[in-house]
Amino acid sequence: MNNLAQSVDAGSPQPGGEAPMLECRGVSRNFTVGKGFMSEKKTLRAVQDVNLSVDRGKVLAVVGESGCGKTTLAKMMLGLLKPTTGEIYIEGKPVSEIGIRQIARKVQPVFQDPYSSLNPRKTLESIISLPLKVHGIGTREERTHMVEEMLSMVELPKRLLHSYPSQLSGGQRQRVAVARALIMKPEVILCDEPTSALDVSVQAHILNLLQDLRDEMNLTYVFISHDLAVVEHLADYVAVMYLGRLIEYGEKSALFSNPQHPYTQALLDSVLTPEPAKGIPEIALGRGFPNPLDPPTGCSFHPRCSKVMDRCSVDAPVMHSRDDHLVECHLFDE
Ligand SMILES: Nc1ncnc2c1ncn2[C@@H]1O[C@H](COP(=O)(O)OP(=O)(O)OP(=O)(O)O)[C@@H](O)[C@H]1O
Ligand SMILES: [Mg+2]
Repeated sequence: MNNLAQSVDAGSPQPGGEAPMLECRGVSRNFTVGKGFMSEKKTLRAVQDVNLSVDRGKVLAVVGESGCGKTTLAKMMLGLLKPTTGEIYIEGKPVSEIGIRQIARKVQPVFQDPYSSLNPRKTLESIISLPLKVHGIGTREERTHMVEEMLSMVELPKRLLHSYPSQLSGGQRQRVAVARALIMKPEVILCDEPTSALDVSVQAHILNLLQDLRDEMNLTYVFISHDLAVVEHLADYVAVMYLGRLIEYGEKSALFSNPQHPYTQALLDSVLTPEPAKGIPEIALGRGFPNPLDPPTGCSFHPRCSKVMDRCSVDAPVMHSRDDHLVECHLFDE
């Protein structure tokens, strides 16, 4: 085992044994951005040096404000984006060596917006069976049968087989997106804000469905959300991101009962605000989210931090192990 793996394993809050279902080791992703043809190009560090892992059958929630890098991380886990540095492993195998088709058989996404992610010109049968067709699985009749089975798994009536997305409610569309993800019998479902476009009551149904499916199919979830109430309900482990960095990571119960990072503390305080689903209120955190193209020096959270110290604007903090979880903050320097 190399040093990096050792340090990650040593810091991982999950017990050892077989390889984790999904693991990120030192994963970073940069984007080059420039306004126009002649303008200066800048590097945007969307994800920086993320180490985390999730065991089979568990739910890892990734939380943080808009722009902190959650979707970028998710796209790398799906093999849709390559890390600039670092590697993602599925059951111990590097994603860079697996190939996109094999990744798709293991990891399937459910995205935020069930309106734009379903092709409006296709019937549900055609939408849900598309992954099977792409992978050349089954005859036409077999595929129809599998789609019917999936519709019942996600509690949609079979009569909708020949309907179009426009004929469905938001909640029903999200069930179609879940069915499409499940038809390949994947091991990991990667949900990027899967319910944030839905009404609260519909959200609850979808979340219950996801939980039931997890038990029935022994699924592993990576669940991206800014809604900490949802995360508290579903997650086994929580990863908190800030400006591309993983700043606190650990078992949900430890993290919720005893958050260590001032940012996580502010996030949890924001759950107590009247409308947590609307996102993380500015008030709890003072100034707004910094410009990712020009991040603050030292600890990137320092301009908004209630416990800021002199060294925070100078030195970048390192990860510390605290009270059963990991936290990247100068408060815990020796
Ligand atoms: N293709 C791209 N080119 C340039 N910058 C990008 C690209 N994709 C993402 N970014 C930038 O990377 C950062 C992280 O974006 P990302 O979409 O991962 O955030 P997020 O946490 O998913 O936000 P949200 O909660 O709004 O979905 C942002 O600053 C974003 O502007
Ligand atoms: Mg996103």
